Amino acid sequence: MSNLARRPARKAVIPVAGMGTRFLPATKAVPKELLPVVDRPALQYIVEEAARAGLGEVLMVTGRNKAAIEDFFDRVPELEAALEKKGDADRIAAVHESTEVAQVHFVRQGEARGLGHAVLQAAAFVGDEPFAVLLGDDLIDARDLLLEEMLAVQAEHGGSVIALLDVGMENIDKYGAVAIREDVQEGVVTVTGLVEKPPVEEAPSSLAIIGRYVLAPEVFDVLRETAPGRGGEIQLTDALATLVERGEPVHGVVFGGRRYDTGDKLDYLKAVIRLASERDDLGPALRGWLRDFVTELPAEGASSS
Ligand code: UTP
Repeated sequence: MSNLARRPARKAVIPVAGMGTRFLPATKAVPKELLPVVDRPALQYIVEEAARAGLGEVLMVTGRNKAAIEDFFDRVPELEAALEKKGDADRIAAVHESTEVAQVHFVRQGEARGLGHAVLQAAAFVGDEPFAVLLGDDLIDARDLLLEEMLAVQAEHGGSVIALLDVGMENIDKYGAVAIREDVQEGVVTVTGLVEKPPVEEAPSSLAIIGRYVLAPEVFDVLRETAPGRGGEIQLTDALATLVERGEPVHGVVFGGRRYDTGDKLDYLKAVIRLASERDDLGPALRGWLRDFVTELPAEGASSS
């Protein structure tokens, strides 16, 4: 490991170039990462999470049909002037939030050739130091300090750290799955193998990789040599499996908190309802309505007429 690689991670990479097919037709025109979770795009929560963890330099890996993402993180002088004229300080602050939270940079992926390929586009920005990857559609509740814990594990052990969630054997074929050794500490494991979307009977465990990574810069060299894998895409999971095979340390932090895949319709709805119901401005009215709504719901299987 070089001295630079021993530095704590300072930079975050957020891949947002995926096609979002699970959220069609909305994603024909709107990137799924900009779908509002209450009143802010999912992506804004993710940039704020990176900034909170001390990662003030953010690179977004974008693609075609994603220009709206660059617009969102840009200033809008005409809008600000109009709000100023009205003396609407709260809305001015809301408009500023997205541009002030972090230094946001952009690079294009060109072609959506997989998450591993998206991460590889960040090589020049990252250089020779560890860095974080936050998936643009994976929302972690702000009260659950997953990324902070992962950065601490990386600072202590070096190498790479991935976030793991027990999704149950019945769901593991939708995720990257890991084999582990429980030899580090409560909630932190050594990863001994990884496989992308395995058939249930071949899955090494029910622990799935979720959208937070702290990676050693060595991953870039491995990604350059990684052939397309599952789905014909260059898989980050395959590159991490190579790092493990080479004896590089890869640890997992097992997450027990609240996480939403906002690229999945049901999870997206859960995120909107939960976060709105917990807000001071919307919560009381929404919770009251939800209680009434739930009591009126027909039992599953009954007719709703
Ligand atoms: P997903 O696995 O959710 O893929 O990507 P997707 O294509 O965006 O969505 P579906 O499955 O078609 O609905 C996880 C993250 O990696 C990014 C996505 O933008 C998302 O944030 N990604 C994926 C890229 O940046 N480039 C890619 O080639 C693939």
